Amino acid sequence: MRVSIGAGWCYDGRGEIVHTRRSALAALAGAPLAWTCPALSREHSQTTPSLAAAARTRGCYFGAAVRIDQIEADPGLRNMVLRDCSALAPEIHFKWDQLEPREGHHIFNAADGLADFAHAHGLALRGHTLLWDQSTPRWAKSQLLHERDWTLVARHFEIVLSRYRDRVREWDVVNEPIDSESGEAGLRANAFLRTFGPGYIGRALTEARRLAPDACLMINDYGFDYDNPVEAKRRRSMLRLVERLKREGAPLDGIGVQAHLDLSKGPFRPAPVREFLQELAQFGIEIVITEFDVRESDRSAPLDLRDRRVADEARAYLEVALDQPAVRGVVTWGLSDRHSWLQDQRRGLPRVEAARSLNRGLPYDAAFNPKPMYWSMHEAFRKV
Ligand code: XIL
Repeated sequence: MRVSIGAGWCYDGRGEIVHTRRSALAALAGAPLAWTCPALSREHSQTTPSLAAAARTRGCYFGAAVRIDQIEADPGLRNMVLRDCSALAPEIHFKWDQLEPREGHHIFNAADGLADFAHAHGLALRGHTLLWDQSTPRWAKSQLLHERDWTLVARHFEIVLSRYRDRVREWDVVNEPIDSESGEAGLRANAFLRTFGPGYIGRALTEARRLAPDACLMINDYGFDYDNPVEAKRRRSMLRLVERLKREGAPLDGIGVQAHLDLSKGPFRPAPVREFLQELAQFGIEIVITEFDVRESDRSAPLDLRDRRVADEARAYLEVALDQPAVRGVVTWGLSDRHSWLQDQRRGLPRVEAARSLNRGLPYDAAFNPKPMYWSMHEAFRKV
């Protein structure tokens, strides 16, 4: 059964959208985004195609970072996730400090819970992340620095990969290794670099390949999105790293581009990102946009203007990213502003002010209404 959802969109009842009137779509592209969107009501759920269905039309998956405790506590979030996603990323549960806060004392409840949830609903699960300085437990860091023993990393990989390798096809083996400002030759001077030197990245990939031979092994990082000298240097450092790893024969299959957009760094200019993605693709690797969201710069502007700025930035970025055939997935870092990591933690603000002060950089607002960003992502996915 075909249901018209207005402005040229038609839902075919099987999770796919169909364009009915291209001209209407073109008009929509230029229309003010204060266009009223249906809430996550029955109407929205039944008549609006999911982001995953829209992404599929471009050969991409769509997913979001989530926490199982939040999904369990909030049926609205659960519905939204099941409606819109074909993949999930663990926002925190797979990080080393969550899995092994004390040496040898593993806590798998949350990670297992999320893996079970994903499996039960046929959703892919990204493995985020095996090695990240910021989420390495303090006990492990101090052991690494004192004993300089790779066994500790190897043991961590062995435990995590053997537990989840059948459920997870894609791993962020190393997270955020780039630092072209205060790092060493473009690499972040983290505990791993200081302990093992720049070879730690290739070594981690090799270790992961041994334990999960069929998985897609990735490096994930941020700060490649804007036309400024800092991010230009970061792009060059990442390209140098990929070039070296490939030359050395390291088993690198892909790059995760976090894409935490930031309106204070804009306006977004397509050329640098287009070139960067193209250069990455030339190494024969895959690309996933792994942590997509938009940080606002002026939360005092009227809401519809704020939402339009966010939506426009998201659309502009995705149009460039999706143009690159090596990009095969988009993951937002959360789905609704209610759970965004970008919220500042100020407490005690009066209710109206507290609501206004929320960052509005994800597809759904804090009350789970789809926002203009939701629709602009749809349009970017559907653009051919
Ligand atoms: C963040 C989570 O969203 C927070 O809840 C947690 O406290 C810290 O980590 N880059 C990454 C993600 O690769 O793992 C980070 O996630 C956000 C920045």
